[in-house]
Amino acid sequence: MNIRVEKIAVPKQKPDEKNLGFGKFYTDHMFVMDYDSHKGWHDARIVPYGPIPLEPTCVTLHYAQETFEGLKAYRTAEGKILLFRPEMNARRMINSNRRLCMPEFPEEMFVEAVKAIVKMDADWVPSEPETSLYIRPFMFATEGALGVHAANSYKFVIVLSPSGAYYKEGVNPVRILIEDELVRAVKGGTGFAKCGGNYAASILGQVKAEKKGCAQVLWLDGVERKYVEEVGTMNVMFKINNEIYTAPIDGSVLPGVTRDSILHILRDWGYTVHEERLSVDDLMAAGHSGALEEAFGTGTAAVISPIGEFIYKEDSVKINDFKTGELTQKLYDYLTGIQWGKEEDKYGWTTVVE
Ligand code: COI
Repeated sequence: MNIRVEKIAVPKQKPDEKNLGFGKFYTDHMFVMDYDSHKGWHDARIVPYGPIPLEPTCVTLHYAQETFEGLKAYRTAEGKILLFRPEMNARRMINSNRRLCMPEFPEEMFVEAVKAIVKMDADWVPSEPETSLYIRPFMFATEGALGVHAANSYKFVIVLSPSGAYYKEGVNPVRILIEDELVRAVKGGTGFAKCGGNYAASILGQVKAEKKGCAQVLWLDGVERKYVEEVGTMNVMFKINNEIYTAPIDGSVLPGVTRDSILHILRDWGYTVHEERLSVDDLMAAGHSGALEEAFGTGTAAVISPIGEFIYKEDSVKINDFKTGELTQKLYDYLTGIQWGKEEDKYGWTTVVE
């Protein structure tokens, strides 16, 4: 891919690495590439980070033809920069785009573009503990038209954000509201795709949870409101009687890269993993009997987020005395150890940006 580079005239001042928060600061440059149905993908460029002009009738603004990804670049103690399984994000974006009738962005081009923009802004990859450079590739329709149809022009963009912990709680247990009315996704819909519309649909549940003193929502299936699916913007796992349970990837659940990595590690560590439906009643019963030993969310942004309590209708149950479980902590340490280059990468999951 031939990438034209236009450098920023005056580089921005870098933020304090100790107070990054999540997704609040952006680097000097962004990657942009255009698509139209005649030329296909063309005009790959790295340009100064800045606004993107849009037609008021842009299909994305009206009909949400948009997909995105999230991955991170990590600074190792030796100063190298590592990416974690970027090809998984590339493939997931292809699947998301198929669902949204958007053109596919080829896997090799995706990885090349991510490497090129991270290399360009390499001095923005933070090195303070628990920090990384969050990478946000996204694609959206640019055609201006009010009829509902698949647009004939798109942009693929990558922006970068030096970030710390996603949740202000860090790797500490949170209270979760089990949502019994609103739903995030149904099979046949877009739940498995990483598209903005899914997140828009989730915000009301999040607001409701916060009003009840909870950090996130646990989503139940959209048909019976019976089976556990995801937590907030993350996949969710439970340790019940020393075995692991998580919802299957069967249409309404996002195929998380962290989910896949954690399941791989757990199986390697000898755990029995059930990728099957778990009902909310069985979950609460396991909580009350003490069989539910640990629960945690998995996602790129937070990596692992321990769950300390579930609130469901009039009922509530605490997990592990509202303390981070031993396995949860061990998984967090091991996976982030691979990501930050502290642990041997025996699965070949990291790629050096050079
Ligand atoms: C992730 O954890 O990767 C997410 O999807 C969170 C993101 C929407 C901020």
